[in-house]
Amino acid sequence: MTTDTLKWWETAVIYQIYPRSFQDSNDDGIGDLPGITSRLEYIAALGVDAIWISPFFKSPQKDFGYDVEDYCDVNPEYGTLIDFDALLTKAHALNLKVMVDIVPAHCSDKNVWFEESRQSKNNDKADWFHWVDPMPDGTPPTNWLSFFGGPAWSWEPRRQQYYLHNFLSSQPNLNHANPAVREAFMDVARFWFDRGVDGFRLDAVHTINADNAPYKNNLANPEFVPGPLPQQQQPFFRQLHDSAQLNQPSIQSFSESFREIADQYDDRYLMGELHGDDPIKASQTFTAPGRLHATYNFNLLAWDGLNVERLKVAITKAIGAFNGTGRLSFAFSNHDVPRSATRQLTALGLKEEQQQALQLLLLKLETCLIGSSCVYQGEELALQDARDIPIEQMQDPWGIEFAPVFAGRDTCRTPMVWKGDAPNGGFSKANNTWLPIDQKHLARAALDEADRPESIYNEFAEFLAWRKHQPAIMSANNMTELTGSATQLVFDRISEQQTLRCLFDFESLTVSFEEI
Ligand code: BGC
Repeated sequence: MTTDTLKWWETAVIYQIYPRSFQDSNDDGIGDLPGITSRLEYIAALGVDAIWISPFFKSPQKDFGYDVEDYCDVNPEYGTLIDFDALLTKAHALNLKVMVDIVPAHCSDKNVWFEESRQSKNNDKADWFHWVDPMPDGTPPTNWLSFFGGPAWSWEPRRQQYYLHNFLSSQPNLNHANPAVREAFMDVARFWFDRGVDGFRLDAVHTINADNAPYKNNLANPEFVPGPLPQQQQPFFRQLHDSAQLNQPSIQSFSESFREIADQYDDRYLMGELHGDDPIKASQTFTAPGRLHATYNFNLLAWDGLNVERLKVAITKAIGAFNGTGRLSFAFSNHDVPRSATRQLTALGLKEEQQQALQLLLLKLETCLIGSSCVYQGEELALQDARDIPIEQMQDPWGIEFAPVFAGRDTCRTPMVWKGDAPNGGFSKANNTWLPIDQKHLARAALDEADRPESIYNEFAEFLAWRKHQPAIMSANNMTELTGSATQLVFDRISEQQTLRCLFDFESLTVSFEEI
């Protein structure tokens, strides 16, 4: 394939913005859309191709935007639709594509769809959610558990029925077997495409439920090993899900309808976040022809980090299934896991002073693999996780549920800092920010680092500029198997015009490239 035939998203470096923590413009201690707009030059100068903004829709913020009250409006804390249009126009002028984060599997219990549905068994929205009668002994119909703890079924006294929620009880699962729900989502897709967005990150698509009763029980996971949170101690992981609760085959009619809408516009992109008992198989199913363009790959996001051997296995598995295509997107960090600069340092047994060199290596590695890659805000500054957030200041409902054993996701969500010597690092002029500023981040404030020629930000920017001129990376999505010593990852990227050997050495923390 030549560059001309690769779509933008097949090689894109996508910068993920967590809007609550990026930049506050109205001094309420919470980031917002005008704040993002004011920082777009900083992002564009890094040389990335696109931004993905985590949900900014109207929401009671129980799961910080992943509980949507209105899919076609902006949460007042974040601004207005006019602010969004201004953001989009400026991003496009700076050659940045814009992706928004849609949540199709569930909404908020404050969404009018659910408010109406829960009232009775015979209202207009009665069948928009998964409602089931109790078993004769009053218990829920299946053994399904919620990802955030407790049963996946909650009781609604008005209907004398249970409803399904794979996450918080305030995130009821939509009934995608109902054509009216499907149509509502197609309208949401059109609404944002018509405004000019270039793509969607589709949240947790494996948790869309499109099957109706009778529901089957999940089986026990025979490979379950007790261990540290989050995976092993959480009862959710004691079950297998793909035969019943998750990755139901009927979901694919959703992927197909969503793709049909995307194809009615020019060059739009659908990237599904998904998991499963067999994540690679689920990813292949979701990206089969006529479905989502690509899948967001979890292989590099292991909560406890990956040593070199595990990195090799993780990359090999993903490449094995997708080589020759741009249908996957790698990420080392996001708003759901501890920052890679912290996790990977521990997993690789490296010292604190090696952390910056390690972060640059990880950024280069991720952006040299096939497909697109997602860089989470602050990775370009080698920010580490915020530590020691007092329990009374914790915000993440998942973390709060399992505290103090588990710190949850606040540690990677603290506000970005822009100027080391400004109040709150230049994030906000408010007395209090929604999560505390990590004082250690002040030494790596974004605008200070952008001004410092030898910073990770500038080294990464230089690398991304070089990357754009490598046909082996930009014009084909092929790579060889991983080789190298026990402390190295070596592979070739191959196009008709160029074969580029890429060597990542985790001992010297250096990266080298050779045309062969
Ligand atoms: C998002 C999480 C969110 C969950 C429920 C995801 O995988 O990334 O932040 O809590 O979906 O919507």
